[in-house]
Amino acid sequence: MNLLQMLKEDHDRLRNLLIEIESFDENAVEKRKKKASELFLELEIHIRLEEEILYPFARGAVDKNEKPFRGAIEEHQRMKKWMRKLKEMPPTDTDYKRLFSRFRKTLKHHLEEEERELFPRTEEALKKDAVSVHSRVLEFSSDLSGATE
Ligand SMILES: [Fe+2]
Ligand SMILES: [Fe+2]
Repeated sequence: MNLLQMLKEDHDRLRNLLIEIESFDENAVEKRKKKASELFLELEIHIRLEEEILYPFARGAVDKNEKPFRGAIEEHQRMKKWMRKLKEMPPTDTDYKRLFSRFRKTLKHHLEEEERELFPRTEEALKKDAVSVHSRVLEFSSDLSGATE
């Protein structure tokens, strides 16, 4: 599986987690919290994979000052900040609900924009460097499994 396919699978998993969270009753606090931490962990790893591997390779194909690129990095920053805040808050808090809904909207938009703009533009650059991209992905995965062991 290549990097873009992996990232798209992550996107689908993230979307499914959002749908699951939305399907819970408002009062199912513990369930929401548990799913939300699953989602946050998944997204944190996904963002690292993109920033450590995809984006550096994409820089050759997309000007890093260009909107889809600059915008994506800003959104990562924003979502990371929100996730830190949400982890500290009780889900019953009205601020939690407000912030989670902003987070959800930003994430949905972010996934769509990457798939529509960034991924297709980077495909060629990734193909050209397929071997080094692949070895970077392997390195990343073994770092990750080392960290969670
Ligand atoms: Fe992203
Ligand atoms: Fe992504």
